[in-house]
Parts: sequence; C-alpha cells; structure tokens
Amino acid sequence: MEIKIEKATVLKEKPKKGEALGFGKIFTDHMFVMDYTEGKGWHDARIVPFQDITLSPASMVFHYGQEMFEGLKAYRGENNTARLFRPDMNAKRTNDTNDRLCIPQIPVEDFVDAVKAVVDIDRDWIPEEEGTSLYIRPFIIATDAFLGVAPSKTYKFIIILSPSGAYYASGLKPVGIWIEDEYVRAVKGGMGFAKTGGNYAASLKAQVKAHDDGYSQVLWLDGVERKYIEEVGAMNIFFKIDGKVLTPALNGSILPGITRNSVLKLCRDWGYEVEERKISVDELIEAQKNGKLEECWGTGTAAVISPVGKLRYVDDVMLINNEEIGELSKKLYDTITGIQLGKIEDENNWSVII
Ligand code: PLP
Ligand code: COI
Repeated sequence: MEIKIEKATVLKEKPKKGEALGFGKIFTDHMFVMDYTEGKGWHDARIVPFQDITLSPASMVFHYGQEMFEGLKAYRGENNTARLFRPDMNAKRTNDTNDRLCIPQIPVEDFVDAVKAVVDIDRDWIPEEEGTSLYIRPFIIATDAFLGVAPSKTYKFIIILSPSGAYYASGLKPVGIWIEDEYVRAVKGGMGFAKTGGNYAASLKAQVKAHDDGYSQVLWLDGVERKYIEEVGAMNIFFKIDGKVLTPALNGSILPGITRNSVLKLCRDWGYEVEERKISVDELIEAQKNGKLEECWGTGTAAVISPVGKLRYVDDVMLINNEEIGELSKKLYDTITGIQLGKIEDENNWSVII
C-alpha cells in the first residue's frame, strides 16, 4: 500500500512533561485517511495534518450507525523506538467487526502498515511518564449520502492518535463496579462481539446510573437469562476463585479482548488452572460469602489491568481483597506493561517495534 504524506506546516504544542493527560482528550499533528469506493476498493491512503472532516448530513453513519472502531497503544521504547502491542490482533478483529457490519475488509498488513506509518510520523508525541502511552484510534464510517437502510458503498478509514494517561482517574487503585440488573448490552446473534459504536451507545444509560451511585463502570449480565457475567463497559472481566482463574467464555455477545487473550496465555504459562466458561452472578455471591473470591480485575487496552475492589448486585455489595490490588492482578499488570515497554522478555513476540 502506498501512503502519501502531507506534513503539517504548523505543529501543535505538545503536553508538558508531568502534565496530567487524562484519556483521549489531546490529539497529535497528523492522521491517516483512506477511502473506499465500491468497484474500486480501498484507495488514496494518506497521512494529512489532523483536521476536521466534512461530510454530507445525509451520510449513512449519522443515521444507522454503520461504523466500527479499534483501540491500541504505542509505548515509548529505548532509543526513540515506538512499540506496538499485537497490532495484527486489532487488524483481525477489525475484519470480524467489518464482516458483521457489512463494511469491506481491510488487508491485515495494510491496517498494520497504516498504524505504523502514522505513529512513525508523530512518534515525538508518545509520552514518557509511567502509565502513559499514545492511544491509537482507528475507525471506519459509512459515507454514502443516502437515507435508505442498506450497506454504504463508500467509507472512510481514519486513524487518530491521542497521548493518554490512565483510563480510570484512580489508576491502579481498585475500582467499584456495578452489576447491571435492569438494562442489557448485547445478545448472542447481535453485535456484542463487534467493536462498533452502537454497543457503547446502548451502555450509556446504565453507566450514568452506576456513576451516580459512585461506581466506575457497569458489569453486564447476559441479555437472555440476566444471570451470567459478560463483560464490563470497556474491558473484559476475570475472577480468581479458590486459586482458579475464571473468565466468561467468548459466546458471541462479548468483545474478544486482546488483553484478555494475553492474560489467559500468561496465567496458563504460570501454571494456573484457567477456565473460560459461564459464570453466574450467584456463583460470585456464593464465593464471596465463603471467602473464596480472592481477586477480580478487568482487562483492556485503555484500562490495562484494572483491579476491582467492589462489586454491587441489587442489594449485595461484595468487597474483594479488602479493596486492595491482589497479588496476581499486580503480577499481570507488571508483566503486561513490562512487555509493552520492552522492559521484560517478550517470549511470545507480541511487540512490534517501529
Ligand atoms: N470489552 C469492551 C466492551 C471493550 O470496549 C474493550 C476495549 O477495547 C475490551 C473489552 C478489551 O479489549 P482489548 O483488550 O482488546 O482492548
Ligand atoms: C480500548 O480499551 O481500547 C477501548 O476501546 C475502550 C474504549 C471504549 C475507551
């Protein structure tokens, strides 16, 4: 894939060292753009100065939500290198999402090359402080100006970059999570496994309710029986119960997280008994009452490993490990971030260096 480059002539001021970055609020000097036209395929790959985009108000993305997004990060390595973590997995997941949403496929190498090219040009934006990184947000929108409900014949694939700190303001301090008993996020056969805006729009109402009650995010239950644990708003969920590592199986209604996949590999390599299966909320309550719910943590690109200290379900409030980070959660955080930053050996060849 040939990528044309138009460099920004005026560069923005970068955040100062030590300045709190927050998450997803600051954007770099450039962005990647590529168009799709039926009959022509993906074309005109380019890097241009970060700018607003102009679309017809009739563009299909505004009306029927035909869009997808991904999330990955670039970390600052030694000698001004940029380090990506398993970007091929994001490329493959993009195509799984695209398939579900009738968006055309993007070759895995082109997706990865596009990410590499735009990170390369803005590599000076990768922050250095511990816990920071350059968040990469690839997304695709349907651009046909047409109000009929049908797959669009034209699309834009864009990648923007945002120097970011921790997703949760509390950092590694365990968060409180609200197990939602009224609303549902997804059902099998729907779009739960896909990374598309509609899933997040569907989550807002419960998230506002949870925030109002002092909880950070929502943990969804299955949409049919409302009994089995699915995932959190922006991360997959893990439990350590009686020494075993448990996480809900990929059932079509949860996102197949790349961090989830990496954590499963590490836990198995470390000799833990690991189960991917249905986990009922009753099983959790029971385990907590018997003192067997030892740890709970979420996994995600933005959230990394996020310890959970409190789970609420209707009238039950379960405290976990005295609301302190557990030993395995800490080891996973240290190992994953160590591999991402190039500080510990990457036995699985997960890092891609630019
Ligand atoms: N589940 C949801 C709903 C998410 O938005 C995310 C974040 O991307 C995840 C899980 C974790 O996925 P990953 O580890 O690939 O970032
Ligand atoms: C990510 O972790 O990359 C995500 O996409 C989560 C996002 C919804 C903030």
